[in-house]
Amino acid sequence: MIWSLQSLPDLSDQQFALWSELLEERAGIYLTQQQRTFLQTQVSMRMREVGCEDYKEYYDTIMNGVAGQIEWSILIDRLVVKETSFFRHQASIDFVSELIADRIGHNSIDGSFDVWSVGCSTGEEPYSLAMVLNDAFQWANREAHFGITGTDISRAALSLAKAGIYSERKLELMKETFRQRYFSPVSEERFQVGEELRDRICFAQGNILNINEMPLIKVDLIFCQNLLVYFRRWRRENIMNAFVERLKPGGTIVIGLGEVVDWTHSDIERVPLNGVQAYVHK
Ligand SMILES: C[S@@+](CC[C@H](N)C(=O)[O-])C[C@H]1O[C@@H](n2cnc3c(N)ncnc32)[C@H](O)[C@@H]1O
Repeated sequence: MIWSLQSLPDLSDQQFALWSELLEERAGIYLTQQQRTFLQTQVSMRMREVGCEDYKEYYDTIMNGVAGQIEWSILIDRLVVKETSFFRHQASIDFVSELIADRIGHNSIDGSFDVWSVGCSTGEEPYSLAMVLNDAFQWANREAHFGITGTDISRAALSLAKAGIYSERKLELMKETFRQRYFSPVSEERFQVGEELRDRICFAQGNILNINEMPLIKVDLIFCQNLLVYFRRWRRENIMNAFVERLKPGGTIVIGLGEVVDWTHSDIERVPLNGVQAYVHK
């Protein structure tokens, strides 16, 4: 790999349009002019790594053949926002906690309680869900029957998610009981999620724009937070409509607050709660 210290020229208007259109077409992510510096920094950093000094030449590489696809999968990892944390939106997690307690209490789980964490990044979200689901089964003194699928476009994020190893700082705000029960130290400052939870989660690469090509497995809960916010309104609504097709009867969708506005669907009712944006299949 050739490293060059020379800085690349600024992206021209035309190049910004080309790159941002590619990002939106392939990943759904819509960039505004204000994010121009971000795009330029990430693309040029990667270009330096591969020893390319011309935006157009690098763009052509990405557009061509298997090598281009591989390069795109590396670049997309740099262009997405992967920020996440355990129990990121506590109200949504509490909602799931109550939902599962209710389903267990009413004996209304058909076999297994299946969850899809969409845009799961480095795994903190599906592991948080796994902790509350596991707890709910334990408190009810029932054998745990649940499974979670975590999908994301970023392969790099998914490999961290699969390992389930986190720094002490990541665990700081977590309740001590969760930390003690579900994590073991692997070094002085790093902790791994226990097998009991890791075995419940299947991580897979998936671009949500290709939802209609994904296997039609129906789930009880779709949890999708801080992803739709990067998409244009029409795309958010299309994805919500596709989510409905993936729900078991009585299934629930939880999204981030305000990520979809005024969306309705004939099979879906909004859960009348403040602080949580959830929808249930009638
Ligand atoms: C800000 S993180 C949110 C993580 C987690 N859901 C949370 O709320 O903490 C957004 C994630 O969505 C993923 N992502 C972006 N575009 C995507 C797409 N088209 N398909 C699937 N995942 C995507 C990113 O790779 C990133 O990991």
